[in-house]
Amino acid sequence: MVHGPGRWLVSSGRITLALSLLTCRAGREESVRRRESCVRILQAIVMLRLRQVGRPIARHRRGLHHGSNGAAGGILPETPRAPLATTTKCTACRATAAARRYHQSSSLPNSGADERKKACSDDNGSSGALEASSSEASSMASASSSRDSVESTETGRGGSSFERDVLLRLLEIARPERGLILASAATLAVTSSITLLLPYACGSVLDAAVLEASNPTGNFDPYKVSLGLFGLTGTAGVFVYARGVMLNIAGNRIVSRMRRGLYGSILSQEAAFLDSSKRGDLISRLSNDSFFVRSAVTTEVVAGLRGLVMSAGSTGLLFYTSPSLAVVSLLSIPPVFVAARVVGRSLRRKQKRVQELHGNATDIAEEAIGGMRTVHLFNSERRELERYSSAVTSAHDAEIDVGKTRAKFDGAVHVAANGAVLLVLGYGGTLVLGGEMSPGDLTGFLMYSLLMAGNISGLSTTYAEVVKSLAAAGRVFEIMDRVPSIPSSLDSKSECKEVSLEGDHKPKSIRFENVRFAYPQRADVPVLTDFELDIKAGENIALVGGSGSGKSTVALLLSRLYDLNSGTIKVDGSDIMSMDPSALRSQIGVVSQDPLLFSGTIAENIRYGRPNASRAEVETAASRARVAEFTSDLPHGLDTRVGSRGTQLSGGQRQRVAIARVMLRDPPICVLDEATSALDARSEFHINQALKEMTQGRTVISIAHRLSTSE
Ligand SMILES: Nc1ncnc2c1ncn2[C@@H]1O[C@H](COP(=O)(O)OP(=O)(O)OP(=O)(O)O)[C@@H](O)[C@H]1O
Ligand SMILES: [Mg+2]
Repeated sequence: MVHGPGRWLVSSGRITLALSLLTCRAGREESVRRRESCVRILQAIVMLRLRQVGRPIARHRRGLHHGSNGAAGGILPETPRAPLATTTKCTACRATAAARRYHQSSSLPNSGADERKKACSDDNGSSGALEASSSEASSMASASSSRDSVESTETGRGGSSFERDVLLRLLEIARPERGLILASAATLAVTSSITLLLPYACGSVLDAAVLEASNPTGNFDPYKVSLGLFGLTGTAGVFVYARGVMLNIAGNRIVSRMRRGLYGSILSQEAAFLDSSKRGDLISRLSNDSFFVRSAVTTEVVAGLRGLVMSAGSTGLLFYTSPSLAVVSLLSIPPVFVAARVVGRSLRRKQKRVQELHGNATDIAEEAIGGMRTVHLFNSERRELERYSSAVTSAHDAEIDVGKTRAKFDGAVHVAANGAVLLVLGYGGTLVLGGEMSPGDLTGFLMYSLLMAGNISGLSTTYAEVVKSLAAAGRVFEIMDRVPSIPSSLDSKSECKEVSLEGDHKPKSIRFENVRFAYPQRADVPVLTDFELDIKAGENIALVGGSGSGKSTVALLLSRLYDLNSGTIKVDGSDIMSMDPSALRSQIGVVSQDPLLFSGTIAENIRYGRPNASRAEVETAASRARVAEFTSDLPHGLDTRVGSRGTQLSGGQRQRVAIARVMLRDPPICVLDEATSALDARSEFHINQALKEMTQGRTVISIAHRLSTSE
């Protein structure tokens, strides 16, 4: 005879009335005939439940694909699936010990910024806790920085270490939303209790019905019982709804924060890093990978917790009901655990590969869409389509491979979990036949077994999703943790501020001393060797040379977009290495050879030079750079939109807008890199006049192929 937990779970009102009925028990003197009929009923129930238990799991998986919550109350495992999400970390504080360790192992271009960042981490006391607590975890994220490092993780530190550390890091990122996440987890207490009560209630109803059938009293009304249980289920439904909403909010906030942090980190990276990265891959990390991470920090955490609570709860109740039968029902757990460990490692490696392949495909598409005109001019649509198709096919083939591994795992877990239930059915049926157990108890027991089986299956799905998210998280952290070798303007606490030029408009002297430089991508092909240049403050010099001789490179080095291999560059006698790069750049206006405009209006593009300039100042700059000449023909004048990368303007018009942008900025150092190469003779003459006016009292470097252009 069993006295279940139903009594203490509910204590008042109608529900108590209904539940008190459930505590009725069938007596041992039940006839053999009755037992047999009960066993037949049980078999029918069990078969029904076995069929049903597969459905919510399938629904659960579909829910994941569509980002739905898919949460459901009732006896079957709830599957809370909120759209997922993430956090940012101050770019100034990315110099964690972990990040330093990462740079030692990463395949990404090394930043060499470790020393510089030590000062930064000292400065950021406010984020110290975050740094300290996440350092170990981020070292793992760091270790995932490349396929190579992942593989070394596999053979070296082991998969579980990777998972644990990245998971800790993710939890750290989710920390600001901990209130919502904890509240969602707290709803589990209610929904799980109700779910765990239902099997007991069903068993009791069955026994009460059997008793009532043999000895009618008129006190047993199945509808009343159902109504009471419906009240409980309804309550659980409200909590499931609340959980879905809270997770959704938390997930979206987290992913939005994480994307901002990742984007900030990408923007902060030095030019050399971006030279060596695939743009599509970075975009893929920003969109796809960040999205996957959202599920790990919200939905999967709660789903995992729920699975654990439900599995533990149902296991406890199984032992409470029948210890020997409970041992039989738990036989499936050890093999499932071993399979999870083996499959998890393989899944993580494969999933990272999938993300990389998707990154490649995005890169190809991004390049072709950006260069659509060239594609059309060379009739390369088919070639581009084939290139993209091949990349996408590889990515999807890899994804199918992941799917097969997952499906094998899910299938094995399903068989193991439900196989245990069938064992219980066989062994439990024998106990009922032997009179050692009542039919109601066996019903309750079987339902708890099914509950446990469902939850173990659910946990396997959660595990696979978490592994997927962790692979994506590793790719996101790889960039987020990367410390740029040249501080960016986003590094608010940049430590290189010994010399600040900000707000200073006096002309400056420039000196290149014994400069040697090779682009990091072609380290063995020096562009400048023993390069010397001495420009006095206010001087206007021309840099003339053949194509590819390194003229534009000089402008890039002066603005510290790249660091030298050796030698020094001094501005007003100070080494630019000791200056805050953003302050240095604020003193230099570069009109580049192939100026880039951003989508937006012409006025917005001119204002890019000085965001707080007034409309009148923008108009003056537009007029001096002869922008007004072509905008007067356009219906919206300066407010005409230029399209992505300025494609709706001609090359010469783009160049004029770029000149106006620098004129508005009015910097003490001007670099004019073939600034008028795309202009007709008349416009060039007028602009040169305007440039002469603008550069009065400024230090100017004019770059040209021929001396005549720079005169
Ligand atoms: N990001 C880069 N990575 C590797 N090599 C580069 C990179 N940018 C330029 N180079 C190489 O550096 C050399 C100098 O380039 P640079 O752009 O300075 O030439 P330039 O004198 O301005 O030529 P042009 O007159 O054609 O504009 C070239 O050989 C070029 O191929
Ligand atoms: Mg050039």
